[in-house]
Order: sequence, then C-alpha cells, then structure tokens
Amino acid sequence: MSSPIGIFDSGFGGLTVMKEIVKILPNEDIIYFGDTAHLPYGSKSKESIQKFSIDIANFLVKNKIKLLVVACNTASSFALEYLKEKLNIPVIGVVNPGVRSACKNTQIQRIGVIGTRGTINSNAYQNALLKIDKTLQVFSCACPLFVPLVEEGLTNSKITKDIAELYLKSLKTRRIDTLILGCTHYPLLKQIIGKVMGKKVVVVDSAKETAKTVFSILVTNNIKNTSNKRPSYKFYVSDDPSNFKKWGIKFLGKNIEDVKRIDLG
Ligand code: DGL
Repeated sequence: MSSPIGIFDSGFGGLTVMKEIVKILPNEDIIYFGDTAHLPYGSKSKESIQKFSIDIANFLVKNKIKLLVVACNTASSFALEYLKEKLNIPVIGVVNPGVRSACKNTQIQRIGVIGTRGTINSNAYQNALLKIDKTLQVFSCACPLFVPLVEEGLTNSKITKDIAELYLKSLKTRRIDTLILGCTHYPLLKQIIGKVMGKKVVVVDSAKETAKTVFSILVTNNIKNTSNKRPSYKFYVSDDPSNFKKWGIKFLGKNIEDVKRIDLG
C-alpha cells in the first residue's frame, strides 16, 4: 500500500524515531508534523496535549496516512488511547516499545524512567511496565532541563553533565540495571547519561523498538509499501520552519530541504 506513514511530535525530537523507521522501512513515504508552535509539550496539561494531538492526527489523516506514529513521549503518555478511540487507522506510541525493550533487558527487575514532567506525572511508563511484570520496581524522575539543553546544542557540555548528575543522583542510589530514556530528546544525551549512571546500567531508548513495531504492524495488516520507487518525505511545522531545518542533520541524520508551515488552529 503506497499511502504514507504519519509521524508527529511536539517539534523535531521525533525525527530520532523517524530515523529508525527510515532505516528498516526504506520504501515508505512519510509525512512528519512538528508542532513547534506548542513546543514544549512536557509542561502542558493532558487536555491541551489531547487537543493538539487530535488536530494534528486529523490533518495527517486528511493527507491519507495509513498508520500514525505518536513519536512524542508526552503525547503518547497523555493522548494515545484517546487517538486510538477516535481514529480508524493503527496508532503506535513510543511508551510500549520502550517498555518492552527495558523488560527484555532487566536482570534484577529494577528499572528507572526519565522524561518530561508530563510523562513522569502521567505514570504511563510505570503503568505499562507493571502491566507486563508486576514484580518490577520502577523508579521515575522528571528531567525538565534536558530538552532546552539539547535544543541549545549543549549535548556535550559541562553544564549538561552537572545537571545530569543532579537529576540522576537519586536514581543512582536505587540500584537499577536499566534506564528508559522516556523523551525524544534524550537519545542525544545518551553518552552523558550513560557516564553518569555508570557501566552497569543499560540505557534504553524507544526509537528502534518503535520502528520494529511499525514494521510488524505494516506486515500484519498487509499495508507495507512494496514498490521500489524513491520514498517521499514531507515535513510540516506549526511555527517558523527555519529552526526545524537546522536540526535535520542532528536528529534525522539527513538534510531537510523542504518544510512547510501550516496553521491548524
Ligand atoms: N517530544 C517531547 C517528549 O518526548 C519532548 C519535548 C517537549 O516537551 O515537547 O516528551
């Protein structure tokens, strides 16, 4: 089926998820929406996130997507079930894939989760983890400054390391062996977070596992694109596109040439 996959995030962070999808599904057309006018989602209410999410989903559905990927952890935490109820296409979030990969990894049933305030306060990760294994011990911590640090390009700086030390101090005392990066931006801080947590802690991000889930849903529903033509990637944002283009290489590993601004309001 040649219709595109739709992906959305609060901004460009979801491009880390798109990158993994492109790797294992190189023939698929993709429409990506970055809700830059409402970024950050991490500090907003459930009601606002649900409203932004359904507006974007409706726009993407109008553009004939065959499957929707909610690449944002905060939107996955607050709006996934809501979107599934409202839409007639498969909807995939990033929480369950991350949780599956953490459960596969942990040897001592002690898992840490970090994310935005919204994601952590929603308890979405905790609930999803305990649904798989009730014996798990889950320790969560919001790291609100990580997103602006990544957006300022401070992925390797001393200030980021100091803030990581501060945020992760309590998690370090919990003797976890697995840490879920529950935010689109955190894979860019994987090195620093890994260093702070120490070698014994495996740092898991959901992008790869999400891409695998997309693959298997396309196969199960028999909607994978079987043509060999070059795929088309379309990018839309709700605010100034220039900043979005700048981040293409860092998050997606490719230049983003064409980004259209669109007002869904
Ligand atoms: N995309 C968001 C997430 O994964 C991080 C950025 C934001 O707060 O909007 O939770």
